[in-house]
Amino acid sequence: MRFVDLIIKKRNNMELTNDEIKFFIRSVIEKSIPDYQVAAMLMAICINSLTERETADLTMAMTYSGKTLDLSSIHGFKIDKHSTGGVADTTTLVVAPLVASLGLPVIKMSGRGLGFTGGTLDKLESIPGFNINIDMDKAIKQVNDINIVIMGQTETLAPADKYIYALRDVTGTVESIPLIASSIMSKKLAGGADGFVLDVKCGKGAFTKNIEDAELLAKEMIKLGKNLGKKVTAVITNMDEPLGMNIGNSLEVIEAIEILKGQKEGSLKDVSLALGAEMLIMGGIAEDTQTALHMLNENIRNRKGLYKFSELIAMQGGNPAVIDNYSLFPQRICKSAIISNKNGYVTEIDALALGKASSFTGAGRKTKEDVIDYGAGIMLKKKVGDKVEKGEILARIFAKDDKRCKIADAIARKAIKIGSEKPEPKPLIYKILK
Ligand code: URA
Repeated sequence: MRFVDLIIKKRNNMELTNDEIKFFIRSVIEKSIPDYQVAAMLMAICINSLTERETADLTMAMTYSGKTLDLSSIHGFKIDKHSTGGVADTTTLVVAPLVASLGLPVIKMSGRGLGFTGGTLDKLESIPGFNINIDMDKAIKQVNDINIVIMGQTETLAPADKYIYALRDVTGTVESIPLIASSIMSKKLAGGADGFVLDVKCGKGAFTKNIEDAELLAKEMIKLGKNLGKKVTAVITNMDEPLGMNIGNSLEVIEAIEILKGQKEGSLKDVSLALGAEMLIMGGIAEDTQTALHMLNENIRNRKGLYKFSELIAMQGGNPAVIDNYSLFPQRICKSAIISNKNGYVTEIDALALGKASSFTGAGRKTKEDVIDYGAGIMLKKKVGDKVEKGEILARIFAKDDKRCKIADAIARKAIKIGSEKPEPKPLIYKILK
């Protein structure tokens, strides 16, 4: 088989056989095809898509491209959660410690930033000393000891996805339902948890821009999980404006800490708790949503969730003192502020544009080799629907150098719109599919 023939086949919108898909993934693992050919195939898939059968075959080939994990030595129903990717989307750092503090074992395999979205691993690495490279034996011991681990994909877990994910990030091939579904589900299935709660983002700052596409993606992932006997719940959530107020790695960790301290309300907390409720119900810890939400709120109030986060940080080599002393995070330098030039209401905060602006500050990568500036990003002061007065600060930009700051500022400035009418609120959670 010549790989170029498979690229041409997909470019001509023809269906690849299971053997051809296996050959593709085997060649990726054996590194017998160069990056540019893999990138060409990914672009052909992005443009012409995959059939349901091809997506299932690709997912299986990626799942078994490395070792699959056996978590049977961890007691209880093991749950993993995953977001399809959003902006200021730090739900994991809120919900994982909270549900772990309620007795649900969480073994969370997270990813790095992709495209304009942030990644949990990059955020956690902004905590001085935090180590995301944990081997499986240690991860299992950690879950048995403290009920939670948040780790990177080990070298042997779905390695084909690890390679393809990094390449998609820099080749404009992220926005593809079959590529997203196979990427997420191959990692989840190889990770060996019993059930998954998926946060499927929908809107401007998501890879699926409308409810139809988000639902397609959700259903595809549910099917892929159920085929292997896993429980899967997909929560379709709004991602038109950034979910939280902070965009950028350490800024987002700080916002999660503030929620766990009970000091911050808003959309990030609401979506985190909705996901947490689904996790508790799936894991048999709570019977219904109301009970689950009560339990989660209680563990914010009594700070058990915060304590669990601090235990997690300490166990993975980080400095838990960051929780009470934000100056221990990498230095944040505020270079400019966006100020409202009129009275009115915030009618739009374009999450995609702000995700890109944040990436320009140094919070994201433009190439695989780029080094992240953990202190960089954007701090919003307003949400859509908020009243503003002329002269009020709408957002602050954090960046190390003036050039980066200027570019980010120009993009963010255009992304925040002020009008005279208060906009109709949109739902935060569209649908829950099982
Ligand atoms: N998250 C993933 O793990 N993969 C994608 O393709 C998108 C979001």
